[in-house]
Amino acid sequence: MILLPLVFLVVLHHTPVTLLQFYYHNNQQIKEYLFEVNTANPHITHLYSIGQSVRGQELWVLALGVSPGRHTVGVPEFKYVGNMHGNEVLGRVLLLHLIEDLVEGYRNNETWSLQLLNSTRIHIMPTMNPDGFDSSDTDCMYSQGRFNHNGIDLNRNFPDAFAGQAFDEDKREAEVQAMIGWLQTETFVLSANLHGGALVASYPYDNSNGGSELINGASVSPDDDVFVHLAKVYSYNHASMYKGNRCTESRPFLDGITNGYKWYALTGGMQDYNYVWAQCLEVTLEISCCKFPPVSELPAMWTDNRKALLSYIQQVHLGVKGRVFDSKGAPVQNAVVEVVGRRNICPFKTNQYGEYYRLLLPGNYTFTVTYPGHEVLTETLTVPYGPDNYSALKHDFLLHKTTTTHQPFSTTQYHVTCNTDLNADNMVDLNIDNSVKKCT
Ligand SMILES: *[C@@H]1O[C@H](CO)[C@@H](O)[C@H](O)[C@H]1NC(C)=O
Ligand SMILES: *[C@@H]1O[C@H](CO)[C@@H](O)[C@H](O)[C@H]1NC(C)=O
Ligand SMILES: *[C@@H]1O[C@H](CO)[C@@H](O)[C@H](O)[C@H]1NC(C)=O
Ligand SMILES: *[C@@H]1O[C@H](CO)[C@@H](O)[C@H](O)[C@H]1NC(C)=O
Ligand SMILES: [Zn+2]
Repeated sequence: MILLPLVFLVVLHHTPVTLLQFYYHNNQQIKEYLFEVNTANPHITHLYSIGQSVRGQELWVLALGVSPGRHTVGVPEFKYVGNMHGNEVLGRVLLLHLIEDLVEGYRNNETWSLQLLNSTRIHIMPTMNPDGFDSSDTDCMYSQGRFNHNGIDLNRNFPDAFAGQAFDEDKREAEVQAMIGWLQTETFVLSANLHGGALVASYPYDNSNGGSELINGASVSPDDDVFVHLAKVYSYNHASMYKGNRCTESRPFLDGITNGYKWYALTGGMQDYNYVWAQCLEVTLEISCCKFPPVSELPAMWTDNRKALLSYIQQVHLGVKGRVFDSKGAPVQNAVVEVVGRRNICPFKTNQYGEYYRLLLPGNYTFTVTYPGHEVLTETLTVPYGPDNYSALKHDFLLHKTTTTHQPFSTTQYHVTCNTDLNADNMVDLNIDNSVKKCT
């Protein structure tokens, strides 16, 4: 009589809270699932909404990690965003299964899950366009449901550093405004945005103004080596993406990856915005030839993507991370931390905790750290491969006060932060005042 309840308890411990079935959860069912997971795992999950869609549906995010509710210094922030195009739906399914996998792995003391959640804060948004999903049909190819409720393509609606004209802020959609606000509240380091209709990992830039970034038909960013690596981590950990399946493309994708612009140019995309304005490296993952795959294919598609989704998160531990301290030993915000040879359009700056994160492949890199009233600090670091250890190299920069009365630069010059000299005769038309606000 006494043994029975004990046996029951042990079994209960190993039983998932909810066995997630393979089908297309509607928006209400996604919300219910996220609430259930959050209620059952309050110590490693935190559920929040970043705002609402045009029709007032919440844009839910589940954060996972050992400190899910707030940032911890030294722990990088990662995100996955699904279903930006309402009719590209596999991401919704995969992200729910990823949540289940992480949570169950943690409950079962599986080392990979303990290490990932111990070292990383992972934010998962299954749908960025719930209204589009509601109006979507189940076609493989067509675009019914792609747009938001106002008929706008959300992946053309972000500020764009390469666009000639300043974008009318009134035309910024609710979903896009919510994303921009989210990027200002968290220091995201790495991200991916899940689409369908092709099988390829596509990386920045998506746009160009014909300046020096344009090389052999590709729009090449200063961190191109890192982006190629990140895209390959996904394609080679996927069951078949690396083979370069053409779906409906005329040409195969070598290694299952492509520069975004080289594939096709687009203005106002989310991945360029993340990278240029929010110093978050984002890749666009096209994860199924069919935008709305038959339900019967979902289990195999989860199996095809599972390792790739997990390995990609682990890449948030590439490179170097640390803090910048002033001469009094206090961490400073908005110190410019640059890597020689990588001129980002908006220079990477420290956050409110004085932290910087810089994804880099193994090698030697010279850093310069610039902060008003202090000498420019130059240091060369040897960077190992961090992901295997679930940690980037840790390195803090200690600044020294300028000894001369002559400042290295005036405050005014300091605030002109965006490098607009991409190409002397075809300059990016950045509104500097505006950009200072957004280059956070
Ligand atoms: C996981 O490890 C903790 C602490 O060592 C232990 O209390 C718990 O019973 C373990 N859970 C499982 C499912 O093995
Ligand atoms: C989690 O992190 C703590 C402190 O950072 C460390 O002591 C512990 O060993 C880590 N656990 C795992 C499973 O990585
Ligand atoms: C980096 O610097 C170290 C120490 O100076 C040197 O031994 C090593 O060969 C360098 N590595 C590369 C890839 O240049
Ligand atoms: C990983 O961690 C181990 C133990 O802390 C250390 O010996 C090793 O050098 C680290 N490797 C890298 C690539 O950082
Ligand atoms: Zn898409």
